[in-house]
Amino acid sequence: MGLEKAGGNWVEGEDRFFDRDTEIEALTERVRDGTHTLLTAPRRMGKTSLVRELLRRLKDAGDVETIFVDLEDASTPADAIAEIGFQSRAAQGAWGQIKSLFANVLPGEVEIGGRVPVLTDADLRVKLRAGTDAGNWRRKGDEIFEALAGNGRPVALAVDELPILVNRLLKGDDYRITTERKRAADEFLSWLRKNGQTHRGRIGMILSGSVSLEPILQQAGLSAHANIFSPFDLKPWNEETAMACLDALGETYGLDLPCAVRRDMCQRLRCQIPHHVQRFFDILHEDLRRAGRRDATSEDVERVYADGMLGVRGQMDMEHYEGRLRMVLGDGGYRAVLEMLTEAAVNGGRLRGDAIGRHRKSLAAEAGAGNHPPRIEDVLHILEHDGYLERQGDDYRFVSGLLEDWWRARYGRPGAGPDRSAGRWA
Ligand SMILES: Nc1ncnc2c1ncn2[C@@H]1O[C@H](COP(=O)(O)OP(=O)(O)O)[C@@H](O)[C@H]1O
Ligand SMILES: [Mg+2]
Repeated sequence: MGLEKAGGNWVEGEDRFFDRDTEIEALTERVRDGTHTLLTAPRRMGKTSLVRELLRRLKDAGDVETIFVDLEDASTPADAIAEIGFQSRAAQGAWGQIKSLFANVLPGEVEIGGRVPVLTDADLRVKLRAGTDAGNWRRKGDEIFEALAGNGRPVALAVDELPILVNRLLKGDDYRITTERKRAADEFLSWLRKNGQTHRGRIGMILSGSVSLEPILQQAGLSAHANIFSPFDLKPWNEETAMACLDALGETYGLDLPCAVRRDMCQRLRCQIPHHVQRFFDILHEDLRRAGRRDATSEDVERVYADGMLGVRGQMDMEHYEGRLRMVLGDGGYRAVLEMLTEAAVNGGRLRGDAIGRHRKSLAAEAGAGNHPPRIEDVLHILEHDGYLERQGDDYRFVSGLLEDWWRARYGRPGAGPDRSAGRWA
């Protein structure tokens, strides 16, 4: 079977989406059962792709209406409600009613001068946003959910990047959890939970995001809000699947990747995160194309890994990881994480228990000095949840060989400490 390269974004469709059959099956069952799902996995594991592909297949099957909402750009509950309303235009049986909720901001569909005014999608979004504010989002949101519940077919409502919104509500621009911010996050999550409960069986929600929701909720003592969502952990591919994926890509692009070569690639990565598998193929493909070759050897794999995956292009990818860590942890926590991961990288991938003890003390000292760093437990929880480290006895260890090598290449060389390359260390 052939497979097309992914480009940078999520993938869907038979010629781009690979494997994940058991996951699709399990999630389909949940949607049909009326179970709400919290899909969790580290960055780039393929959550968005999985949800998009699931919705595509559900839609094809025809018995469920599907809606996909991305909240990455939402800063307030009102933004979120407007976006849910906007994307709900996919549910034909509910859209008329939803439009009527915004009658004050939408032009009536009366003929003006013989013509029905036409709104572009961009205009429509702006208008729905203008019609939703801090005073009415809850009521508008309730009414949108009611309209969706009344849609002929049950609705699968996927909400991506909800944790980013919750994180923003909780921590604002200075990453400090204040009482007021906590109340705002609490209100929004309570609203979501109530609607999930009220319309169970008619609306099935699937939440996902590029940072994990649970550690963020736990940090704020709001974990109970996630109770109605049953977790679903998306795992990395196993080596066999990653090798099959490389084989399928090779077939499409006319590359001969012998079994031993593909195995070397997987062993380099150690953890088969689909995005990393795709990147490795892409960089190898480009490299061989420049040389006018179609066959790859183990030496090629080593060269391409060191120059490409760990080089400038690879590092650009990794900057996203750092950006997300900083967003969740704030400056103080991020600084600690840079040190902890660098220590692990130069120690053969291991962060030792005594090093953790040291960071525990220094974070506590910063808190005592009036700053607001997260607790060491929260930092470790996030690093575990987001797939950086896993626990081994008293120590923690890098999960992904690529992340470990990349971290070492970026921060682990003598004189290349976080102080210089991060630029925001002082
Ligand atoms: N099922 C899949 N088949 C092929 N490639 C995938 C698959 N899932 C993920 N990928 C690769 O991973 C990248 C990131 O996927 P994405 O769905 O955006 O991950 P996430 O939402 O978890 O961050 C894609 O661009 C693609 O290269
Ligand atoms: Mg995603």
